[in-house]
This record gives sequence, structure tokens and C-alpha cells, in this order.
Amino acid sequence: MKKRILITTGGGDCPGLNAVIRAIVKRAEQDSEEWEVLGSIDAFNGVLLEPMNLMKLDMEKVAGIHVMGGTIIGTTNKGGPFAWPVRNQDGTWTTVDRSDELIRILQNQNIDAVINIGGDGSQRISQGLFEKGCPIIGVPKTIDNDLCDTDFTFGFQTAVDIATDAVDKLVTTAASHHRILILEVMGRYAGWIALHAAIAGGAEVCLIPEIPYHIDKIIAALHQRLFHGKGFANIVIAEGAHPVDEGMSFHSEKEVGATEKKLVGAAMKLSAELKKAGLEIDIRETILGHLQRGGRPNAFDRILATQFGVKAFEMVKAKEWGRMVSYHHPDIVSVSIKEAISKYHLVNLDSDLVKTARGIGINLGD
Ligand code: F6P
Repeated sequence: MKKRILITTGGGDCPGLNAVIRAIVKRAEQDSEEWEVLGSIDAFNGVLLEPMNLMKLDMEKVAGIHVMGGTIIGTTNKGGPFAWPVRNQDGTWTTVDRSDELIRILQNQNIDAVINIGGDGSQRISQGLFEKGCPIIGVPKTIDNDLCDTDFTFGFQTAVDIATDAVDKLVTTAASHHRILILEVMGRYAGWIALHAAIAGGAEVCLIPEIPYHIDKIIAALHQRLFHGKGFANIVIAEGAHPVDEGMSFHSEKEVGATEKKLVGAAMKLSAELKKAGLEIDIRETILGHLQRGGRPNAFDRILATQFGVKAFEMVKAKEWGRMVSYHHPDIVSVSIKEAISKYHLVNLDSDLVKTARGIGINLGD
């Protein structure tokens, strides 16, 4: 009987997921006498829901998918085996731990290895399952680039391209109308997308979660730019950025089964503060949202995702359970999942990237 690998994609989707799936399947094909690959639909839901929903992944299924956004096996960022949402009789929701049951089902299905492709939340699930004896390997994914112990996650560079394109477009309209244009990009705890797009696109102000901002400092910088310089300005703000005296702008309710509260309103809050300050100039806001997560991965992300997929298969063969594929330039290596989830990969304020931003006069709100 062939050994079976089960692939899951969990958490928010991200360009490059399909390229990882394709690479695992193509690499497994070279050992096809020994291995077969399955995908669980919508993360571990495919295993835990009845009827079970697993997809056999073969060469035909993955042909050409490396250029496609999304994931052919679906994803979810709600619930999971350790916090499965269950509705109470009174209509309220609670969560139950189904991890032991999951492991039993995997054994009954003769699954020899699980490759869990996902961000921080998904890799926490990987670690939990590993500690319960599940033969599991992690592949790091997130446009936010906030997972530790890898230089980059795939999907990030594509998101930066999309955000930079948005800055480019907003610069010309800001200049034409003599306005302040605010662009809100994703980045819950880490401002990587914002900072890269601000430098690449040429914004005047960039606000990231790592640097709580002082509104008066931003206003002073804008005054300088607007009234003694160009007459228009572009601001990039990460969704998790917030003023020094306030926390992040969360949606008041957490969605049922969601692990995190939604972030809503960073750009609108900033805009309101700037309007209150009486700057005599029009201000408009653009929220880029999920456009950053969809569509075709760029070449960098296709290559990184493909490298991750091939490495994940090699790690399965070597039984490197509890470890995650990782990019330590120029090598693709394996690291402990426990380490990778021990903290967030945040923008280092002493880094050359931050010095570069400051060096070209970008105001970081501090
Ligand atoms: O995947 C990370 C991320 O894109 C965050 O930047 C963002 O806060 C979150 O996902 C949005 O999640 P959802 O798709 O559930 O709105």
C-alpha cells in the first residue's frame, strides 16, 4: 500500500498556495510507487465534517495551478480542531476540542504525514497536533510576513506589488487634485506591506503597528509638505497601526468561530484626526483590503512557494515532524514550528529598511 500525505491550507488565503500544492504533488510523482497525495477541503474541515471531504491530488489536478491565486483545496480561518465551533441550544456558540478525534480519523484513513500550509494560527494547530503525536510538517504562508524564523513567507511579495501599484495610482490622483490620499493596507501586527509599499511607491507618511503614531507629528510633516512644498501628499497606513494613546481599531464583535477580531477603520480614524486638525485640503481614503490576497502570485512568490513544496516533501521523507519549511536566504531549510510561532516577525525599528524610509524623509508618525 502507498504512503499517504494529506495537505491542508488554513487561515487567510494568499497568492502561492496552489504553487506549493503543485510542487508537493510533482515531487511526490517522482516517488509515485511509494506515495500518494490528498488534500483536505477547507483546512481540517475536510477531515472533521461528515461526510469527509478529501480530494486526491494528482498531476492532472495540479497542472498549471502555480499561476492561480487562492487554493484549489479551499481554506478557512474559523475554528480548527482545537476550537471547533458548536452551537448551543440557546443559539449562542461555544468551542470544543476535537484534536484527539482528528488524529484518530487520520490514523484510520492511513495518513502517514500531514503538510499544513498556513500562517501563525495554522502553525499553532500544527504544533498542538505534533505534541499529540501527529506526523506533521508546516509550510509558512501569509501576506503579512509576520511568521518568525523565515526571511519571507510566500504571498508577501505579491501583496507588496499590489499595494505599490495602488500607491502609484494614488500619487497621480493626489497630485492632480492637490489632496491627501490615505491608503490602508493589510498588516495586523506587522507593518511589512505598508513600509515596503511606502518606500517603493513614494509615500510621505507611513504608519505601522510597530510605531504607535503621534498625530501632531504627522500634521507637522504634512504642513511642511503641503504648504512649503508639493501641495499634495500620500499616506500608507497598516490596518493595525494606531495612535499612541489608543489601541488598534477593532470591529466591536468577533465573528462566530473566528480566532481574531476583525480590524476595521485605521484609515478612517486617521482621516478624521487630520480633518479635525483643520488642514485646508481634501482628504480621501482607500482601503485595499482583500485585493492584496487574491490573484496571481508574482514570479518571486511562485518560486518561493515551489521551493517550499519540494522541501516539504523531502522533510516528510526524512520524518522531520514538528518542523516548518523556512527561507534563510539563499537556502530553504527546516526550523522548529515551536520557535516559529514563539513570537511575531515584526519590523525592526533599527533595521536598514526603517533607516532607508527615514533617510528619504518618510514620516513614520514618531
Ligand atoms: O492573512 C492575514 C490577514 O490578511 C490580515 O492581514 C487581516 O487582518 C486578516 O487576514 C483578514 O482576515 P479576513 O479574511 O478574515 O477578513
